Amino acid sequence: MTEPKDTAGSAGSALAFDFGENWDHFSRDLVDADRLRAAAASLGDLVGRDRIAGARVCDVGCGSGLFSIAAATLGAGDVLGFDINARGIAVARRNLAQLAPEAAERVRFQQGSALDGGFVGGLGRFDVVYAWGSLHHTGAMWPAIENAARLVDEGGTFVLALYNRHWTSPAWTAIKVVYNLCPRRLRPLPNALFGGLIYLATWAVTGSSPLRKERGMDFWYDVIDWLGGYPYEYASIDEVRARVEPMGFTLAEARPPRVPTGCNELVFRRQG
Ligand SMILES: C[S@@+](CC[C@H](N)C(=O)[O-])C[C@H]1O[C@@H](n2cnc3c(N)ncnc32)[C@H](O)[C@@H]1O
Repeated sequence: MTEPKDTAGSAGSALAFDFGENWDHFSRDLVDADRLRAAAASLGDLVGRDRIAGARVCDVGCGSGLFSIAAATLGAGDVLGFDINARGIAVARRNLAQLAPEAAERVRFQQGSALDGGFVGGLGRFDVVYAWGSLHHTGAMWPAIENAARLVDEGGTFVLALYNRHWTSPAWTAIKVVYNLCPRRLRPLPNALFGGLIYLATWAVTGSSPLRKERGMDFWYDVIDWLGGYPYEYASIDEVRARVEPMGFTLAEARPPRVPTGCNELVFRRQG
């Protein structure tokens, strides 16, 4: 593999969404032991509980830290969660102190960017690298994936969740740009409007309630995350596979999203 890449990307641009603010509100309002259990169930189901127990886990773009904490509750030996957003890291540390203080010695949170080759290169190697819904928001998705891939030790597991390519994806890019240009006090309007539309579309496509608490998340906070989440990139399962396998990985499992604009979940194993 090549050296880790340093790519500024556009995550620091004026248009970039402040995920930390959304994580802060979500955590204060809703995060509790039930949501942590739901996060742990989803993590264990995707990665495999046996692969997490005792493992070194890196949660790339950890957001609220819920999945780093969940990994510790599943018995991970050492967990590092990192995120570019300083407020997100503060929220993650607060969630750890409140939800699983007994795991505090096994979980660390650090501010850093997946695009910063120097930072990523200094983190070492992990048995499980979990990058759920983060690398498509860096502003340079493929270099970010290459950097994250370098964190995976031989025989290790690399989980990527990335927005699926869909015919509406370019339109969503435009909507996200306009949303981030929109003054904060006006955002409740698009939140309610698009939230209603997304609610109805999700019902129509899946036939099940959009309010289902998947991964311990929440529909209305997810709407804000979705509308604001810029930079935004997307790729089909085949596109991701074609990029990641040549780096020494084999695709073990691919799960398409419930709705076509959602995230494909891909589980790769690094060849030993
Ligand atoms: C949609 S959230 C996903 C959070 C978490 N992985 C989860 O599953 O709940 C995307 C996260 O990626 C982070 N992010 C964006 N660009 C990043 C970068 N260059 N390096 C690290 N994290 C980044 C954001 O700050 C945000 O917390």
